[in-house]
Amino acid sequence: MKKTILSLATVAFCAAIAQPAMADDIDVGKIFSKRCKMCHSFDHRKVGPAFKDMHKDPAVLKATMIHGRKMMPKWGSRLSAAEIDAMVAFIISKQKD
Ligand code: HEC
Repeated sequence: MKKTILSLATVAFCAAIAQPAMADDIDVGKIFSKRCKMCHSFDHRKVGPAFKDMHKDPAVLKATMIHGRKMMPKWGSRLSAAEIDAMVAFIISKQKD
């Protein structure tokens, strides 16, 4: 039993120290739920277009994310460049579903 607790503690410790080291470990699902879901869905129109109906060009998606457009907020000052790139890749991956 003691050994189990010890190895569990080791696993928890490793998970804790491994996290900050992984800079590209961005939780796109969490960003989507917290910041995008009220206006966007993957497959139907809400306040904004569905991910599947958006532009296919990543440069256009990225520019809109950074600078905003009409009702679309600007994310350039609220998300990091890496987070914006990850969200663009996420949108494109959802267009293929
Ligand atoms: C307040 C509502 C709102 C929120 C929150 C929001 N958006 Fe938007 N978004 C819009 C609207 C509306 C448009 C369409 C703008 C237009 O009419 O040109 C849009 C457009 C976009 C576009 C451009 C689509 C294209 O085809 O050019 C992208 C990319 C996008 N949103 C991504 C996101 C992401 C990712 C998030 C979360 C980080 C987010 N949006 C949060 C309302 C929102």
